[in-house]
Amino acid sequence: MTGRLQDRVAIITGAGSVGPGWGNGKATAVRFAQEGARIFAVDLNPDAVEETRQMIAEEGGTCVTHVANVADSDAVQALVKACMDEFGRIDILHNNVGGSKPGGPADMPEDVWQGQIDHNLTHVYLMCRYVLPIMEKQGKGVVINISSTSGIRYSGHVHAAYAATKAAVIQLSRIIALQYAKKGIRCNTILPGLMHTPMVEARLAGDRTGGDVEKIIAERNAAVPMGFMGDGMDTANAALFLASDEARFITATEIVVDGGRSAASPY
Ligand SMILES: NC(=O)c1ccc[n+]([C@@H]2O[C@H](COP(=O)([O-])OP(=O)(O)OC[C@H]3O[C@@H](n4cnc5c(N)ncnc54)[C@H](O)[C@@H]3O)[C@@H](O)[C@H]2O)c1
Repeated sequence: MTGRLQDRVAIITGAGSVGPGWGNGKATAVRFAQEGARIFAVDLNPDAVEETRQMIAEEGGTCVTHVANVADSDAVQALVKACMDEFGRIDILHNNVGGSKPGGPADMPEDVWQGQIDHNLTHVYLMCRYVLPIMEKQGKGVVINISSTSGIRYSGHVHAAYAATKAAVIQLSRIIALQYAKKGIRCNTILPGLMHTPMVEARLAGDRTGGDVEKIIAERNAAVPMGFMGDGMDTANAALFLASDEARFITATEIVVDGGRSAASPY
């Protein structure tokens, strides 16, 4: 039986997880591999990305790991070269790295602001800068960028740089999609909402509820119209659809994966 991504080469950034469970990138790497894709898994953290590789290998899939900071231009050029040396092509680019820091303009130091731009936006530009010419030569390719519902709605927390950069990812994706529309390359964005990824236990509980994990989980579940948070596999399944030929006529748009929250009033 052939999978929906059989033999396609997929670069996935942030393919590890910050703790046990499904981060969005880890889930996407595993899900794509289950559908036959060959995974080039990139992460800053060697242990985290090795765990993803092992999970894929145990299921009989192919995954090569690469440790790099995707916000660094030299590192991005090296990783793209390494992927080409390994597989000779790049069919899918899944830009998943990102994360938020609190604050508005008056209370966010300039280095934190710049760091948020690098962490959420610059790497998308860098990865596209070095992968798009390869896809153009192939005459085929798919780019998927991970934004957030914070890019279109106020989340209830002042994370101004995160919101601004995630909004920018949406528009950058649309421009890329239109620039390459006649060249066989599609580009779309996924906007996850409140997801139960390992980040909730690893960071949010400490930041928001003094380490009370049950409390933050209950708060986040209650804020979703469907009554529960999604998880990394929900993001991964949306990405799988966008990466597959089933989405061949879908470009320059967004899929919101948020259990209805961004459409609800009050939000
Ligand atoms: N978790 C949520 O609730 C949620 C909601 C909306 C959007 N998102 C978005 O989903 C994406 C993934 O979030 P997550 O919580 O699953 O991820 P995460 O915070 O668990 O991080 C995933 C991996 O990214 C790696 N990483 C971080 N910076 C990197 C860099 N510069 N270069 C290479 N690797 C790097 C980390 O080592 C980690 O293994 C982000 O873009 C985030 O903004 C998450």
